[in-house]
Amino acid sequence: MDFNEKNATDAVLDSFSKIKDKRLKKIMNSIITHLHEVVKEVEPTEDEWMKAITFLTKTGQKCDDRRQEFILLSDVLGVSMLLDAINNRKTKDETETTVLGPFHAPSLTMSYGENIAKNVVGDDCIVSGNVFDVNKNLIAGASIEVWQSGPDGLYDVQKEGDVVDLRATFISLEDGSYLFRTVKPQFYPIPVDGPVGDLLNNLDRHPYRPAHIHFMVKADGYKDLVTHVFIDGDKYLQSDTVFAVKKSLIRKLEKGFDSDENKECYHLEFDIVMEKK
Ligand SMILES: [Fe+2]
Repeated sequence: MDFNEKNATDAVLDSFSKIKDKRLKKIMNSIITHLHEVVKEVEPTEDEWMKAITFLTKTGQKCDDRRQEFILLSDVLGVSMLLDAINNRKTKDETETTVLGPFHAPSLTMSYGENIAKNVVGDDCIVSGNVFDVNKNLIAGASIEVWQSGPDGLYDVQKEGDVVDLRATFISLEDGSYLFRTVKPQFYPIPVDGPVGDLLNNLDRHPYRPAHIHFMVKADGYKDLVTHVFIDGDKYLQSDTVFAVKKSLIRKLEKGFDSDENKECYHLEFDIVMEKK
């Protein structure tokens, strides 16, 4: 029988009927079923379909070892956060998760109290807290990876050269505590010089993310935790362009004093609660 509008989906699903990998079969069946439904509902013109293909082509071409446009696309379409919600259903009082984002990169291990802001000028800020489990047992030796943008809104990987800045890995002390120095985070736009920026523009959406610091925490026997701490009062908390804000992750930035360095600074307290594997 000819391939036509009525039998198209069944014909393609039938072509997958011999796939041995059950998970792959389920995924492909679902993708084809929904993709065909979209095409039948929208009835794109051939020009519109070519625009879609061009968009995805440009998205791929924008990617390199420092830029991940597909993660950005997944983020602004809310797919990253939906995936996060499905894969990290909260069971108790553990710290909630949120998106990894496109700017994670390897970092050096620093000692308790070190400053991760090496090449930027901003408002000094101390970030500290304790790592423990849902039963309040303190966790020593946890690896706490942090990364953030500078006062100019840019991450180190968005700048020329290979300088690693505003990112580091710390190890929690015997009492579960961690502390590092940095500059006050502030809101920033996601990169808008690529196809995802064009998409946001065409959809009349702003590109901003509220001020935050990224955390990836790992400890033996516990689930890896990918999260952010957000700054209370930021004007973009209600409209984060990647939908990543959760109320439980918002903290107040307090004015304080750095007695070791004898100067005024901000202070951000963020405890981390890990979930057993
Ligand atoms: Fe970020």
